[in-house]
Amino acid sequence: MTISKEALLNALRNVEDPDLKQDLVSLNMIQNIIIKDHKVFFDVVLTTPACPLKELIRRDCENALATAFGDITPFTINMTSSVTTTRSKAPLLPQVKNIIAIASGKGGVGKSTTTANLAVALAKSGAKVGIIDADIFGPSIPTMFNCEKEQPAVKVENGRNMIVPIEQYGVQLMSIGFLTPAEDAVVWRGPMASSALKQFIGDTKWHDLDYLLIDLPPGTSDIHLTMVQTIPVTGVIIVTTPQKVAILDAQKGLAMFRQPQINVPVLGIVENMAFFTPMELPNNKYFIFGQGGGAKLAEKHQVPLLGQIPIVQSIRESGDNGYPAVMKDDITAEAYKTLAATVAREVAIRNAAGNKTKIVTVSV
Ligand SMILES: Nc1ncnc2c1ncn2[C@@H]1O[C@H](COP(=O)(O)OP(=O)(O)OP(=O)(O)O)[C@@H](O)[C@H]1O
Ligand SMILES: [Mg+2]
Repeated sequence: MTISKEALLNALRNVEDPDLKQDLVSLNMIQNIIIKDHKVFFDVVLTTPACPLKELIRRDCENALATAFGDITPFTINMTSSVTTTRSKAPLLPQVKNIIAIASGKGGVGKSTTTANLAVALAKSGAKVGIIDADIFGPSIPTMFNCEKEQPAVKVENGRNMIVPIEQYGVQLMSIGFLTPAEDAVVWRGPMASSALKQFIGDTKWHDLDYLLIDLPPGTSDIHLTMVQTIPVTGVIIVTTPQKVAILDAQKGLAMFRQPQINVPVLGIVENMAFFTPMELPNNKYFIFGQGGGAKLAEKHQVPLLGQIPIVQSIRESGDNGYPAVMKDDITAEAYKTLAATVAREVAIRNAAGNKTKIVTVSV
């Protein structure tokens, strides 16, 4: 039986993207249809390579085709992806599809660890990823990526000096740690730190990126304000640990992004150090900092709980030796991969809604 392109599309109109709640044809996800010698080939273009629903959507397509045409026509479905964006005509960083900030209220809750592992997990899924280490007074990214001694090259482009980011584990990186000895930046004044962040955004030769992650310093600072005044952030991830003091501080961080003048969408909460798992008993969970803090915070503010990461010695060791935990093959790595898939999914949902973040123009 030879089927027409129209008949194929009609059959696939019955398949819905479970997150975006529309059919694949209306979402323009069916592309490159080839019908040749009674064989049918087409691409399903997902919204992210980290899509957790890839296999489900493939199966749904197979079922829809079997219902419409029986089992006799051979179909070849190529699952591919193109990360969505709402910022293709942006004046600054138009080559960056999504900008995701990682924030917290309290210090030391694991923002940088989460950023590093999330970035590597997204890159491993096939996405193009970069990190701006916005913690000018306490940069961690060079250590966590084992590239403290690297010095970025400078390239002249249209008469302007552009810094070339350092690439490690498939992630493009920019940090004050690559430009100045750590002890120098510590004594800088606020405006110098802000102008360093602006340079990372405007004077860095970022390649095309699907996700640019911004590892923020703790609390709410000039750096946060500079960020929201310089670039429209697609969404912010709030990292917290489960204990009450951390949750209270996380709420302050969250509230800052939700202020009407700032109005940056909160993609969700990551509960870090959610439970302790000893290396020799990987299936045991001890809730040493209390249980359910992250979930309660997410529920109270009506945002998703994006993931729960256990406290494990190997995460700390991986951070210290510059080899992010997600690069190993264990349950910790799985937790970060699941987190990456969930974050990518939330970004896709937000982009499908078409909301654009605006740069903050008033000072607060
Ligand atoms: N899930 C975890 N299990 C074990 N150790 C962790 C975990 N998350 C973070 N750590 C460790 O806790 C310390 C603080 O983490 P990290 O530097 O990521 O926090 P931060 O929020 O970025 O801190 P700061 O506010 O200073 O920027 C690091 O030594 C890190 O290796
Ligand atoms: Mg940090």
